[in-house]
Amino acid sequence: MERVKIGIPAYKEGLKSIDELLNGGIPRNNLVLVTGPTGSGKSILSLQFLVNGAQKFGEKGMYISFEQNKEDIIREASTFNWDLKKLEREGKLRVISFRVMSEHAVSVNREIKNQIDSFKPERLVFDSLSSYIVSMETIGYLEILMDYDLERKSNVQISPEMAMRRSIMELVETIKSARITAFLISERSEESEYLSRDTISEFLVDGVLVLNFIGVGTEEFGTIQIRKMRHTKHAHTTYQTFITDEGMKIGEESIGTLR
Ligand SMILES: Nc1ncnc2c1ncn2[C@@H]1O[C@H](COP(=O)(O)OP(=O)(O)O)[C@@H](O)[C@H]1O
Ligand SMILES: [Mg+2]
Repeated sequence: MERVKIGIPAYKEGLKSIDELLNGGIPRNNLVLVTGPTGSGKSILSLQFLVNGAQKFGEKGMYISFEQNKEDIIREASTFNWDLKKLEREGKLRVISFRVMSEHAVSVNREIKNQIDSFKPERLVFDSLSSYIVSMETIGYLEILMDYDLERKSNVQISPEMAMRRSIMELVETIKSARITAFLISERSEESEYLSRDTISEFLVDGVLVLNFIGVGTEEFGTIQIRKMRHTKHAHTTYQTFITDEGMKIGEESIGTLR
């Protein structure tokens, strides 16, 4: 079993890194949903996964964002001393932003496929499915429907919701067939019974990492739980996370807290 190390270390000696909680790392080519409320560290964890891949494990990474423009991503990463520009120059990383959607937005899926085919990353982060959906809603479903009609030469009218699901499944298929270890980020609304806003991606993936943000009195920390990971044994309980100057670190088991 080949494994891909995320490289999120333990907060202090005696505690476990994320890869130890995963019995050695993520099984290669697994598609992992990273879900949690805003501010729970989804983007930081995911970027760290790519930076570690590029710096420590010789694996190329691709970061696809629908949330932030490239300059903001680069600036935020620099607060952790992650030099994304340098990694890009060295051909170890590619950062792509679809923050501003153009009139060509309907071909986003095709553009992503082309980028993957040309760069051939071993690791990929999609940030996020939730903002992808919002972007698609903003540009209008009609074009997507038309896009599908053109692609599939089908005359069958499908609902906007169905079009969106197909669009996500197409993305997942693109990533799966390219044999990449990927993190799909999904914003989780607190009240939803589903782990992901689109409600289908959690059923398509091989693994689910659930992040949370806990504030109790003056104490603040995040948590992480490996809810599901196919092809490996893993810890099932919840652990604290801390964002430090070097990125995310894993703390103690979080017992009795909100989850
Ligand atoms: N340099 C830093 N030092 C400490 N904490 C930070 C730093 N940068 C960001 N954070 C914390 O991380 C949070 C954002 O994490 P992020 O990965 O962007 O969350 P998400 O993607 O889940 O919305 C911020 O709200 C802040 O609390
Ligand atoms: Mg984010």
